[in-house]
Amino acid sequence: MNEPILEVENLTVQFRTKTKMFQPARELEKWKRVLDKISFSINQGETFGIVGETGSGKTTLAKTLVGIYKPKNCKIKINGKQIDFRRKEDVLFLRRNIGIVFQDPVGSLNPRLTVSDIIAEGLPDQGKLTREERQKKIKSASKLVELPESKLESYPPELSGGEKQRVSLARTLAGGKKILVLDEPTSSLDVSIQAQILNLLRDLKKELSISYIFITHDLNVVKYMCDRVSVLYYGQVLEEGSTSGIFERPKHPYTDDLVKANFSFTSSNLSSNIHESGEPSREGCIYKNSCVKRYDECENAPPTFGRAGDSVKCWLYKDEEKKS
Ligand SMILES: Nc1ncnc2c1ncn2[C@@H]1O[C@H](COP(=O)(O)OP(=O)(O)OP(=O)(O)O)[C@@H](O)[C@H]1O
Ligand code: SF4
Ligand SMILES: [Mg+2]
Repeated sequence: MNEPILEVENLTVQFRTKTKMFQPARELEKWKRVLDKISFSINQGETFGIVGETGSGKTTLAKTLVGIYKPKNCKIKINGKQIDFRRKEDVLFLRRNIGIVFQDPVGSLNPRLTVSDIIAEGLPDQGKLTREERQKKIKSASKLVELPESKLESYPPELSGGEKQRVSLARTLAGGKKILVLDEPTSSLDVSIQAQILNLLRDLKKELSISYIFITHDLNVVKYMCDRVSVLYYGQVLEEGSTSGIFERPKHPYTDDLVKANFSFTSSNLSSNIHESGEPSREGCIYKNSCVKRYDECENAPPTFGRAGDSVKCWLYKDEEKKS
């Protein structure tokens, strides 16, 4: 049986926020919970999608998985090894195993470094390598992402958007990471270039047997790329399932709304909120202000029903096994 390469249990992230000035000091600081008990697991070679509107917590999740943010509570295991975020060596282990490619290749590449030097940043222990070994690894990473060798001495401002994203990817792959978090990796690119990068990612997955956590707000990209999907809404996972299940038989009323809304997507509204209706509810079910199926029981927050990998957080499914 395929063992999970990554297991995430009850990941909760909150940020300290400043409220209005001229309040008593004890009231100045409040906590904003951005991710609330997120759980999922991923097998080797699998593409796991995280889909959600703007502000749902996707980038926060990505940054937490590479140790940029510290979760409040969480159990994360990589190949069975438990990560303790308080231990520096565990966070380094996390970073050695999980790489990230950000949405904005401009912001994530140092404009003063050559492409070669940027790719070398991804090499673990690059100080211990001879010049020849370093060059060999840089060339093999650039070959993987189909970046011509002639570009290795260029600087980021001299590259196209697609080439910049290939450089980001090469930097992550140079370190031999087996899990990649892809945070909207194509949403800043032209449509034709998007397709090239998505196809490259699919080819790389087959060739290297890596696993992806593919973050996007674009359901068409999910359909093309992902084996399974988790639907995130204001920091909560409302549904998780196979990609075909989510699209053909959405269970949660929110997923149903998303899938229906996708039929009217145009390129001009892709970056805006998919769903424009009620605010998330602070009490009871978080989706109750927008839900057409709301009923009395929804005044209480529903638990997650179903089993690992196929679950839904909605009272309509209370006859299924309770997960949390
Ligand atoms: N460092 C931070 N401090 C305080 N609040 C933050 C911080 N980072 C993110 N947030 C808040 O957390 C929420 C989720 O942000 P996040 O960037 O994770 O959303 P997202 O799903 O990636 O959105 P988008 O689709 O626009 O990229 C937002 O309300 C954001 O303002
Ligand atoms: S729990 Fe109730 S309000 Fe929430 S999504 Fe389900 S039916 Fe709608
Ligand atoms: Mg984001």
